[in-house]
Amino acid sequence: MSTVKEQLIENLIEEDKVSQSKITIVGTAAVGMACAICILLKDVADELALVDVAVDKLKGETMDLQHGSLFFNTSKIVSGKDYSISANSKLVIVTAGARQQEGESRLDLVQRNVNIMKSVIPAIVQNSPDCKMLIVSNPGLIWNKRRNLSQYPLCLGPKWCLRCCES
Ligand SMILES: NC(=O)c1ccc[n+]([C@@H]2O[C@H](COP(=O)([O-])OP(=O)(O)OC[C@H]3O[C@@H](n4cnc5c(N)ncnc54)[C@H](O)[C@@H]3O)[C@@H](O)[C@H]2O)c1
Repeated sequence: MSTVKEQLIENLIEEDKVSQSKITIVGTAAVGMACAICILLKDVADELALVDVAVDKLKGETMDLQHGSLFFNTSKIVSGKDYSISANSKLVIVTAGARQQEGESRLDLVQRNVNIMKSVIPAIVQNSPDCKMLIVSNPGLIWNKRRNLSQYPLCLGPKWCLRCCES
């Protein structure tokens, strides 16, 4: 999806397209959108990208943020199902996951979420090889599984987040 600025203004001179502090959020349900709003309010990114498999919801959430973007410093808000939209991110926050079903243990949920991570993590690394990843998706065990998926050196999982909150 193109940004509001791109739709309204035609640039006569070439703009510097390379973002310096791009953040991508994978999974745009309650947790992902809470992250998005915090990022915009705190003004910590010059570009925000959203990725989700639920394209209709993704489009609606993106439009909501874009319509408010005139009040944020982060004017570039993009989204898509394809991970190319996340290219060149400095930080990728993963909130994508399957919901725990009634009677399902957290260990059973792990396997379903590992399958999701198997598609998500390599795509992130392929498009942003130098990014840091913050895994919010539960259960925290995914964090260890994820490390095996991409041999990626730095990954901050839920346990890390909770320890930061405690200290
Ligand atoms: N670490 C924490 O402190 C903490 C706190 C709250 C929630 N959580 C966890 O965060 C995650 C998100 O919570 P929620 O309530 O927003 O979840 P949710 O189940 O409502 O949404 C998950 C989102 O992920 C998307 N998704 C599923 N598969 C995907 C894929 N392959 N690629 C891209 N997107 C995909 C879904 O379309 C959906 O929008 C859950 O795992 C939840 O348990 C963690």
